[in-house]
Amino acid sequence: MTSAIRAETRRAERRRRIERRRRRAVATVTATLSACVMIVSGALLASGATGSGGDPQAQGVGSASARGATPQTASPTPTPTPTSSPTPSESENDAEFCPGEVADAIESGDSEAVVVVAGGGEAFRDAVVSGRADGCIALDHPAWQWIVVNKRRPIQPENFAPELVEPATYSPIGAHLAPNAADALDEMTRAAQEAGVGDIGLESGYRSYEAQVEAYDAQILARGSEEAADETSARPGYSEHQLGLAADLVACEAGTCGSIYDFEGTPQQQWIAENAAEFGWIVRYTGTETGTTGYESEPWHLRFVGAELATAYVEGGYDTFEDFWGLPAAPDYD
Ligand code: DAL
Ligand code: ZN
Repeated sequence: MTSAIRAETRRAERRRRIERRRRRAVATVTATLSACVMIVSGALLASGATGSGGDPQAQGVGSASARGATPQTASPTPTPTPTSSPTPSESENDAEFCPGEVADAIESGDSEAVVVVAGGGEAFRDAVVSGRADGCIALDHPAWQWIVVNKRRPIQPENFAPELVEPATYSPIGAHLAPNAADALDEMTRAAQEAGVGDIGLESGYRSYEAQVEAYDAQILARGSEEAADETSARPGYSEHQLGLAADLVACEAGTCGSIYDFEGTPQQQWIAENAAEFGWIVRYTGTETGTTGYESEPWHLRFVGAELATAYVEGGYDTFEDFWGLPAAPDYD
């Protein structure tokens, strides 16, 4: 097979995967909507009410859950980011983005479904950056895949803990991840094997607040100062690992894995750099944008954001999640 045919085969397979994900996301929303319709119909029948009483899809938009409650975890629910009072024209725009299908998807609690029904990663980003999504989307709630955590944006609440599962991907320490991230990691590491680049292991996934205290203290010891540690380790409460949405990858062979510091330059790392977005992951700290992220290059640290947003990120040529969302740089702590 020529390399051109191989590349075309890979592109076709990629399109099929993205289409499968889209269908899954739409099915989630449809199932949620059907359940809502049944509940509403049941309530109407029970109360003997008739006729239409307004748009039922719009009713969830102003609710706590529509504004960012924690639908997929049993963790404490933080207060959503307060938004400034909208001007009349902003209100009209909010009304276009937040109600209807988007509100239904928000009720489903499925981040990917929300982005899909919003029109895809680029359309969703545009709505957030322009402020049209202010009424229903916030970038600081840990239940959603689009959350941005950095040195100026700590996790709220501080002791947040996600729902966790153990991925099938080999992990020397038995690391865990949030369910969507775990599935996406398994899909990605299987695809890497099928592509012939070798095995990929999960060195570190979810880290609790307390585990991050240990990780940060270890870096202070290793590097000799807080200032030096800050270039490679997040302080407790500021790490994406606490979301269950970050994965530190290593290259493995015959059941033996290298360290994260050996990852760069391996076939596995090169394949990840090219293909991770298709599976919903971005390489979060490339080293070219330390002035924005505050971290050195970490080719092993991947952040799960979902396939729609990751694809928009890569296709848009972004180097940092901060730039993607139009957020200020966060090179250091306030
Ligand atoms: N190494 C990354 C920045 C973390 O500690 O989350
Ligand atoms: Zn990491």
